[in-house]
Amino acid sequence: MSYQNIIAEARGAVGWIQLNRPEALNALSNALVSEVGQAIEQFQADDNIGAMVITGNAKAFAAGADIKDMEGQEFIDLFLADFPYNRRDGWDSLNTARKPIIAAVAGFALGGGCEMAMACDFILAADTAKFGQPEINIGTMPGAGGTQRLTKAIGKAKAMEMCLTGRMMDAEEAERAGLVSRIIPADQLEEEALKVAGKIAKLSRPTVYMIKEAVNVAFETSLQEGLRFERRAFASTFATADQKEGMKAFVEKRKPEFKNR
Ligand code: HXC
Repeated sequence: MSYQNIIAEARGAVGWIQLNRPEALNALSNALVSEVGQAIEQFQADDNIGAMVITGNAKAFAAGADIKDMEGQEFIDLFLADFPYNRRDGWDSLNTARKPIIAAVAGFALGGGCEMAMACDFILAADTAKFGQPEINIGTMPGAGGTQRLTKAIGKAKAMEMCLTGRMMDAEEAERAGLVSRIIPADQLEEEALKVAGKIAKLSRPTVYMIKEAVNVAFETSLQEGLRFERRAFASTFATADQKEGMKAFVEKRKPEFKNR
């Protein structure tokens, strides 16, 4: 498929999605968000792909929703359209993809850009990454998960300060606060993101799906419910051929060959 605002390509078993509006710091226009969604659906449907990466360029992952698109909008437009979820092809695909999606962030991840990174399964940050919810500075507020996912990720004090003041966090603070899983030197971000996604892509797909679901349940339910879900999911992995193969290979001191069954 050919896209105008992103580059999407299979790199081995990894679906690589690069936001590509450098002249606007990858601002999330409606067209760009739609294309991200189409690429996610394309990779989700492709059996050869086991994980995805969303990335930007050295200066920006994405500097937010496109302010020039939003400027003339009225309450009633956004409310009736349920913005930004009118881009069902975009945000919905990101929020519901079953294959893991890693955000590889260098430079600015602001507003909707920070929200898009947080909607991914985890964030690998270049040492140049800067995260923020600066909507307050233009008289609005986060609208795609910023007040919710950021608060769950880094706690109330930091999230409240960031959303109320627009202050940005650098990569080190983001790692300390638990927003990102790791910091990587900027010139190695692409290689490392490919390596991590490639590793996941080689593992048992049904088990990968179950783990992703189980970790996400921790965000949405009580500890008791979550533990119950995890126990049931754990037991169900024993219905897969991959569990048999994984454990047999361990006992036989060889590498497993997973069949995604
Ligand atoms: C549209 C944007 C943009 C944005 C940058 N640009 N961010 N266009 N929407 N969010 C454009 C600029 O207009 C400029 O285009 C070009 O990108 C380069 O940006 P500069 O500002 O010249 O770069 P710099 O001086 O390096 O400053 C970088 C920056 C700044 C600090 C990131 O661009 C900035 O503050 N951007 C806005 C960040 C923001 O407020 N994000 C939240 C948006 S609201 P021209 O044509 O002038 O050269 C939001 C709501 C989410 O995200 C709701 C749910 C989805």
